[in-house]
Amino acid sequence: MFDTMTLTKVVGAFCGALLIFLLGGWAAELIYHTGGGHGDDHKQAYVIETGDDEGGEAAEDAGPSFEELFVAADAGKGERVYNKCKACHQLEEGANGAGPYLYGVVGREVASADGFGYSGSLKAVVDVWTPQELSAFLENPAGYAPGTTMGFAGVKDMEDRANLIAYLDQSDGDTYEIEMPAAAEEAAAEPAAEEAATEEAATEEAATEEAATEEAATEEAAAEAPAAEEAAAAGGFADMVAAADPADGKKAWRQCQACHKLEDGKNGVGPHLANIVDRPIASVEGFRYSSALQDLSDKAWTVDELNAWLEDPKAYAPGNKMSYRGLRKEEDRAALIAYMQSATE
Ligand code: HEC
Ligand code: HEC
Repeated sequence: MFDTMTLTKVVGAFCGALLIFLLGGWAAELIYHTGGGHGDDHKQAYVIETGDDEGGEAAEDAGPSFEELFVAADAGKGERVYNKCKACHQLEEGANGAGPYLYGVVGREVASADGFGYSGSLKAVVDVWTPQELSAFLENPAGYAPGTTMGFAGVKDMEDRANLIAYLDQSDGDTYEIEMPAAAEEAAAEPAAEEAATEEAATEEAATEEAATEEAATEEAAAEAPAAEEAAAAGGFADMVAAADPADGKKAWRQCQACHKLEDGKNGVGPHLANIVDRPIASVEGFRYSSALQDLSDKAWTVDELNAWLEDPKAYAPGNKMSYRGLRKEEDRAALIAYMQSATE
C-alpha cells in the first residue's frame, strides 16, 4: 500500500515536471517565432488568418503530392483564393501595386517585375518560380524567405495553393508543364511499389516485380511512339530549329533554368548545357549521370535526339534522373533548342 502511494507520487511529480517542461518549450518557441527578426504589426495579423485551413498539414503527410494536386487543379477555385492577394497584386503585365504584378509569374524569374522595388530576400532563396517553389513560398512567405516585405500570412492548405497557382498560371495563356517527382530516379522506386500495392491489394513481392516490368513495357512502348513520329517528319525538325526564333525559346528555357546553366563548366542539379547541340551524350566531366544516360554515351545530342528527349525524358531514357516532365509542343522544343544554340555561340 505504502509503496503504491510513493510510486504514484513519484510518477505524478514526474508527469507534472514533464508537462511544465513541454509547456515551457512551446511557450519559448511561440515567443521566438512571433518576436524574432521582423515582428512588426503587419506580420502579427497573419496569426489570425492561418486558422482557416485546419487539416492541411495532415493532408500533406498522407494525401496526394503537390504535383498531383497541381495537375488536377481547379483554376476556378484558385481564382477565389486569389482574392487574398488582390489587395497587393494585379495580374496585368506592368501593373505593380504594393506587390509586383503577377502576369506569367509561374515559371517567371524571381524578382523580375520591371519597376518593382524588391527586398532582395526572395532572390536570396530561389531563382525561378516553379509551381513547387511558389507553393513553398505561399504556404509561409516569411518562413520561406526571411525578411521578405510580403506581409501575408500564407495559404496553408496545399490544395488551395495548387488551385491558386493553376489560376496564376493561366494569366499568360501558357501552361507550365510541371515535372512529376516520380520521374526522378530515387523517387520512382517508392511510388511504383506503392502503386502496385494498392492495385493488387494483398500482394507478394513477385507481384510488385511484375508491375514494375509492366510499367517498363509501357514506357518502352511510349518511347517508340515519338520515334516513329520523328521518322515520318524526317529532316523536318532540323529545319524547324533552323527557322525558329531563338527569342521564342527563351521562355521555355525558364523551365530548365532551375537545374541547368548554359555556361561551360557550371553544373547545377543538371549538367551545364553549353554547346549542347551535337555534344556527346553524358559527356560533362565531373557530372554524375544516371546509368540510363551513360548507356547512350556513344550517341550525340543531335537536334533530333534533343527533340525526342525534351518531349518525354522518361520515355526516351527510362530510369534517368532528370525530373522534368517534357515539353509537349514541337515548335516550343524547336525554339528552345535554337535558343540554347544561340545563347552559347
Ligand atoms: C500585403 C500585401 C501582399 C499580399 C496580401 C500578398 N502579397 Fe505577394 N508580394 C507582396 C510584396 C510586397 C512582394 C515583394 C516581396 C519582396 O520583395 O520581398 C510580394 C511578392 C510576391 C511574389 C514574388 C513575385 C516576384 O516577382 O518574384 C509572388 C509570387 C507573390 N507575391 C504572390 C502572392 C500571392 C499569390 C498572394 C495571395 C495568396 C500574395 N502574394 C499576397 C505583397 C503582398
Ligand atoms: C529538375 C531539374 C531539371 C530540369 C527542370 C531540367 N533538367 Fe535537364 N537534366 C537534369 C538532370 C539531373 C540531368 C542528368 C540526367 C541523368 O543523368 O539521368 C539532365 C540532363 C539533361 C540533358 C543531357 C545532358 C548531357 O550532358 O547529356 C539535357 C540535354 C537536358 N537535361 C536539357 C534540359 C532542358 C532543355 C530542360 C528544360 C526544358 C531541362 N533539361 C530541364 C535536371 C533537369
